[in-house]
Amino acid sequence: MITMKDIIREGHPTLRKKAPSVTLPLSDEDRATMRAMRQFLIDSQDPEKAETYALRPGVGLAAPQINVSKRMIAIHTEDESFETLHDYCLINPRIVRHSLATIYMPGGEGCLSVDREVEGLVPRHQHVTIQTQRMNPDTGVVTDETIKLRGFLSIVIQHEIDHLDGIMFTDKTVASLPEAMPVQFKQLEEGSSDDTNQNPKEDPPA
Ligand code: NI
Repeated sequence: MITMKDIIREGHPTLRKKAPSVTLPLSDEDRATMRAMRQFLIDSQDPEKAETYALRPGVGLAAPQINVSKRMIAIHTEDESFETLHDYCLINPRIVRHSLATIYMPGGEGCLSVDREVEGLVPRHQHVTIQTQRMNPDTGVVTDETIKLRGFLSIVIQHEIDHLDGIMFTDKTVASLPEAMPVQFKQLEEGSSDDTNQNPKEDPPA
């Protein structure tokens, strides 16, 4: 099981390396690493498990963050409308197309490898097309896929792919982005509350 003590923090040299590609077929060890990364994200979003194991909630994790310098990322999150669950175990993901339009997280980004509040906004492509190998976490079978992502998911995957290239979101923050659009999260409709400030995804550590 991956816990917070397995996650390396900014300043660790592995976070600054360009991770090498993963060779296929996937080894049993790489398969186990992918599954553990995904399970960490699922556990971190479970309030009971998060408390028991003192996990910080995360929506994405890149292998270099657990000191494994390989091009593997796990993502487990809903989109900004809370309609579709995106559950990805990706190997050697590459951005092959992207929009010129840029977007950003309105509250800035966060990262499981960064234990401080970071001021500033991070410009990201609004749409990305990813070519990747994808592992089915149940069967371990790997297939070639092309995945198109927009909005919040586009931000998450760009943040994770940056980790594979030794780039931290803190390298990219700017004070303002007048040309870019903030991601709009749908309000959760819990008991039709009037509280307009209950967005759980304002600062998703990835
Ligand atoms: Ni991160």
